[in-house]
Amino acid sequence: MQTTRFVVAPAADLPPGARKVVTVNGHEIGVFNVEGTFYAILNYCPHRAGPLCAGRTRPLVTSSGVYQREYEREGQILKCPWHQWEFDLATGHALYDEKLRVRTYRVAQEGEEVVLFV
Ligand code: FES
Repeated sequence: MQTTRFVVAPAADLPPGARKVVTVNGHEIGVFNVEGTFYAILNYCPHRAGPLCAGRTRPLVTSSGVYQREYEREGQILKCPWHQWEFDLATGHALYDEKLRVRTYRVAQEGEEVVLFV
């Protein structure tokens, strides 16, 4: 299958913390800049088809014991705005069930542009 190269935006328009949803080949894809690293994920929640990319980004919260809480990977967890299911931006996997996954895409900065490969 052939890969399509799609220019998302000038890199200056997607600084850390920014996101943009684009439509490529009929699919809405959210592109996120998390502390300088770009991620791209389908804007479709597998639970009830919610607009996943409109959700908040959060850290991964772990616990090493009772009353213990650690925060890791700031901004790399995407929470669906409809019913709060959480997905890993890097892999698309649902946090509660690794078998459930949203499609992710390769995205990179090339020169002054952010480019998506679909
Ligand atoms: S539609 Fe996303 S959690 Fe329900």
